[in-house]
Amino acid sequence: MRSFLRSIALGCAGLIASTSLLAAGAPDPGARVRELLSRMTLEEKVGQMTQVTIDVVSKGPDGRTEPHQLDMAKLEKVLLEHHVGSILNVGVQAYALDHWHSVIGTIQDVATKRTRLKIPVLYGIDAIHGVTYTLGSTLFPQSINMAATFNTDLSRRSGEITALEMRASGIPWNFYPVMDIGRQPLWPRLWETYGEDVHLGAEMGKAYIQGHQGSDISAPTKGATCLKHYVGYGHPFSGKDRTVAWISERMMREYFLPGFEEAVRAGSPSVMVNSAEVDGIPGHANYHLLTEVLKGEMKFKGFVVSDWEDIKRLYTRDRVASSPKDAVRMAVMAGIDMSMVPFDVSFATLLLECVREGSVPVSRIDDAVSRILTVKVQLGLFENAYPDLSLKPQFATPASAAVNLRAAEESIVMTKNNGTLPLRKNARVLVTGPTAAMLSVLNGGWTITWQGDDEKLYPKDKPTVLDAVRAKIGAGNVVYVPGTTFDQQIDVAAAVEAAHGVDAIILCLGEKAYCETPGNIDDMTLDRAQSDLAGALARTGKPIILVMIEGRPRLIRTIVDDARSVLVAFRPGMEGGRAIANILFGDAIPSGKLPVTYPKFPNALMTYDHKPLDIGDMNRYDPQWPFGYGLSYTSFTTTNLRVDNQTLRRSGKITVSVDVKNTGTVAGAEVVQLYVNDNFGSVSRPVRQLKGFRKVTMQPGEQKTVTFTVEATDLSFIGLENTRIVEPGTFTAMVGGLSVPFTLE
Ligand code: BGC
Repeated sequence: MRSFLRSIALGCAGLIASTSLLAAGAPDPGARVRELLSRMTLEEKVGQMTQVTIDVVSKGPDGRTEPHQLDMAKLEKVLLEHHVGSILNVGVQAYALDHWHSVIGTIQDVATKRTRLKIPVLYGIDAIHGVTYTLGSTLFPQSINMAATFNTDLSRRSGEITALEMRASGIPWNFYPVMDIGRQPLWPRLWETYGEDVHLGAEMGKAYIQGHQGSDISAPTKGATCLKHYVGYGHPFSGKDRTVAWISERMMREYFLPGFEEAVRAGSPSVMVNSAEVDGIPGHANYHLLTEVLKGEMKFKGFVVSDWEDIKRLYTRDRVASSPKDAVRMAVMAGIDMSMVPFDVSFATLLLECVREGSVPVSRIDDAVSRILTVKVQLGLFENAYPDLSLKPQFATPASAAVNLRAAEESIVMTKNNGTLPLRKNARVLVTGPTAAMLSVLNGGWTITWQGDDEKLYPKDKPTVLDAVRAKIGAGNVVYVPGTTFDQQIDVAAAVEAAHGVDAIILCLGEKAYCETPGNIDDMTLDRAQSDLAGALARTGKPIILVMIEGRPRLIRTIVDDARSVLVAFRPGMEGGRAIANILFGDAIPSGKLPVTYPKFPNALMTYDHKPLDIGDMNRYDPQWPFGYGLSYTSFTTTNLRVDNQTLRRSGKITVSVDVKNTGTVAGAEVVQLYVNDNFGSVSRPVRQLKGFRKVTMQPGEQKTVTFTVEATDLSFIGLENTRIVEPGTFTAMVGGLSVPFTLE
């Protein structure tokens, strides 16, 4: 079970003073890096710390002319004159595999043959749910869905397949996974997280990194991950993207840091910084979190990259720096090793000035460059920086699509079923609603384009929900009426009319594709046009199966009341249409569980692991559906929850076991979830916290015993002194509706 708790011996951060910037977990760069560093000029060093977007080296006035072409003159200037060490992104939209080969090959030709020291470029990409920017790649469910599978093996497999397809594109570095947890449901990047829970997020992220990196990131089918966005970005007070968070030291250490700690331990060699601010300190200026905590306490040996343009914003937006140069000084001295500038090379020029003026010591530059070069060495780029063409046959195989389909099926959560599901395959259905006939809504942002909302760019061979339902039961049994767009009625009357002639209505509602700030909302309530469509259909009396396709929970309480069955599908990816149809018609048995609390009211936003104070006589945890909730077509009972020893010694362990039985008539998978409550603590303790989960597949009538091991460190928390402590006392272990007490000595 838990391991990160065990080894976090975080000191009282406020009191830790690192003796020097370099001492803070600085890596041993190895002889090769040391030798290289000794030969580098200062200009070459600051160049290594500079990252530009591909637009800067591409043809056209803004570098975004389509079809994309590299501009040799610009490329030579950036690499030969400015010594830039890293490039990222695509121009407008995803490239074909062959185009990537030519882009990466050309860049590496200049870098490894024509620069003085022949240092390869580190190319990075947002391969968030698969290789976003390579046409035809395997595009998995988004993170919120992967978390809903509660299946770490699927997370590992998606990491493996993504790394392979990224390397097949010639790219070795992935800006993923998001280890910041998502505890603010309004936030437009909630779907990029593994949800609200510390343990679930850490386990899913760790498995992904293991799959993506293996034990050697230089292996032909492995690559480097980048943890983001460090840290606390996922908890904006306003719910809007890139806005202020207020996270105390205790809350930071209790909820937001453990996932990063676990992922650093899993070997991720890079970290991207929070674009926003926490407690008045912009992420990019936070020496305490970047240098003292990450590089010091966590002993992170990799390098820290800024987010997009965010060093400049210390001056232009946050006004904590008094000039662009001051911003560069501040960020580098806070612990940032590479600047995603990304539209120019000003960072390098300004940093050079800072060093010459003495506001940034050369030792800090050497530390940053060593960290970056070490990762280039670890990736094997000095041996071979070129795309491996032999991987092409392994790109987007049917076997990878099969893993993807399974992940999508396991990620869909059935939250209500009054016997309507599964539908019979000879049923006549009306398919309606704005998310029924689009692939973009199934995938969301970071799909082919940044926003993922350009429907015409999507592959023609992947089915929408409508296509998949037609394929399942025959087009003759399916009537399709759009009903509404996301926020405007189109033909509600036609939908109502069509409803009279069918056995059931598949009502597909939700959100369009979006990413980052463009996804901000002022109201969690689902758009009026959509609820009006639902209301009009409800009045026909025909059974409604509601399918929510969305990046975050949108409030739907009256629609839920009117619906017989509900699937919360979030963003299930390129196989999402098939997966939804398979569940609707019983070819897949739902097993997803909510990785976030699904709220019922706009002003009752509470996570499952709330404090006793949050509830009581007047207040309740009364969401639409709680964290961890999800139904199946079979039923499970859990009995006989027991501990092998009532007393847990400080250095010992106990086991908690429970018997789980499939009492239904079909095979299915249940997620057995172990929660623990610390009955009394010197700091108020959550009513329950997930400490372990296991997904078990069982045949009808089959029974299995699931056993979790609990150690004292699993019960640790951030105490009065803001350090992680273990306190003796009484605890309650809970699985399903059962509970059993035990004592920590
Ligand atoms: C996002 C990051 C992303 C970066 C590079 C930023 O806008 O916040 O998540 O990795 O762009 O594309």
